[in-house]
Amino acid sequence: MRKNRHTDTLVNHVIREMQSIESCLEFDIVYIVEQNVHPCRVMCSTYCSTHPYQCAIADDVDVTLTRMIKADALVIGTPLYFRAPPAQFQAWAERLISRFFFYESQGQSAVPSPLKGKPCGLIGVAEYANPHQILEYLHDFCTVLKMRPVLLDTFPYLGVAGQGNVENDIIFRPFERAGDLARGIVNEVNQGGT
Ligand SMILES: Cc1cc2nc3c(=O)[nH]c(=O)nc-3n(C[C@H](O)[C@H](O)[C@H](O)COP(=O)(O)O)c2cc1C
Repeated sequence: MRKNRHTDTLVNHVIREMQSIESCLEFDIVYIVEQNVHPCRVMCSTYCSTHPYQCAIADDVDVTLTRMIKADALVIGTPLYFRAPPAQFQAWAERLISRFFFYESQGQSAVPSPLKGKPCGLIGVAEYANPHQILEYLHDFCTVLKMRPVLLDTFPYLGVAGQGNVENDIIFRPFERAGDLARGIVNEVNQGGT
């Protein structure tokens, strides 16, 4: 949502750690706040129920989905604003979840998810609330899209979390965990996880 703030810092840190392991790594950061994203209209669900992983609304969600499909791995981060991820991020997630949900819930799951098994590192940041709730939200998002969240061996397990000023967060230790997450993602990609 905000460049050079805590979530952005942690996403960039994970990428830098991945680069320190794989120097030829190419990356691309997409700021959802800069994308043209409309919320799900729901009433047109016949379209996505019958067109695998497609949506009747033409906007930047299709563009980001194509980029996600092309990537070997993803790192997704969001802060907590007003007790939830920012509205634009939620609209983007909703538009992806809806096309996967409606296609599969109509019993037409013959075409597998184009994101199946995609390794995905998760990052959540809050200030006074527990950032773990964001990791749970993102984990659920990955589950519906059939991606594979890259888990950590240590707390908070679901990904990198930060609370308050992430530079001084001795509870979630986001910079240490960012290194763990980077190693986990690179391992998954090298093992041919997708
Ligand atoms: C508009 C706004 C709303 C916020 N609402 C919450 C909130 O509901 N719960 C919380 O724990 N932190 C809240 N925060 C604090 C942010 O989660 C925290 O500052 C976080 O570092 C923001 O991520 P960012 O630095 O990447 O923008 C809010 C911050 C902003 C700017």
